[in-house]
Amino acid sequence: MRDYRDFLGEVLIEKDQLQERIAELGAQISRDYQGKNLLLICILRGGVMFLTDLMRNISIPHMIEFMAVSSYGVGERQSTGQVRITLDLNTPIHDLDVILVEDIVDSGRTISSVLDLLSARRPRSLCVCTLLDKVERREVQIPVKYVGYTIPNKFVFGYGLDIDDYYRNLPFIGVVDLEKYEMVRKTG
Ligand code: IMP
Ligand code: MG
Repeated sequence: MRDYRDFLGEVLIEKDQLQERIAELGAQISRDYQGKNLLLICILRGGVMFLTDLMRNISIPHMIEFMAVSSYGVGERQSTGQVRITLDLNTPIHDLDVILVEDIVDSGRTISSVLDLLSARRPRSLCVCTLLDKVERREVQIPVKYVGYTIPNKFVFGYGLDIDDYYRNLPFIGVVDLEKYEMVRKTG
């Protein structure tokens, strides 16, 4: 695979900025959920980096769980609306105050399907915390309680977000130069 610098358009959010904002979100959640029975559900795989940094910044006792859904395949840049659960929770969530932890809300289709599925299980409360929000692209209206950053309509990568399954490890959010990316993809 190619070095990300071959197709990086620009760094949109630096590592330190991300960490500062996540500390604020963690502090906010710690205040809001004081005395509650908090469960963070991470949507794999994009939400993993965000979850681990967020939970380090939450000072109240809480649990974590993982769920995986498939939204689109390699080479596609938007979700199809056909969201499939590929990994489900291991425990019931009734009596729990649930926060869904997502990397990015784009059209809103993925999170909307997950919200439908989870609310049927009757948690005490349910809300969404997303690191990034591409509001311009929204097709399905969903309530998002916590947002790290609202970003423009550009394809981004790093900090959990992938391009064709790679580059999730980068500690910042970068914008993909799609023209360059397609060129380097063809040439290997
Ligand atoms: P939605 O269903 O359109 O809201 O898409 C949400 C999912 O698409 C996210 O969980 C991401 O996995 C993926 N996604 C959306 N935009 C981007 C992006 O700019 N970069 C990488 N993945 C993205
Ligand atoms: Mg993805």
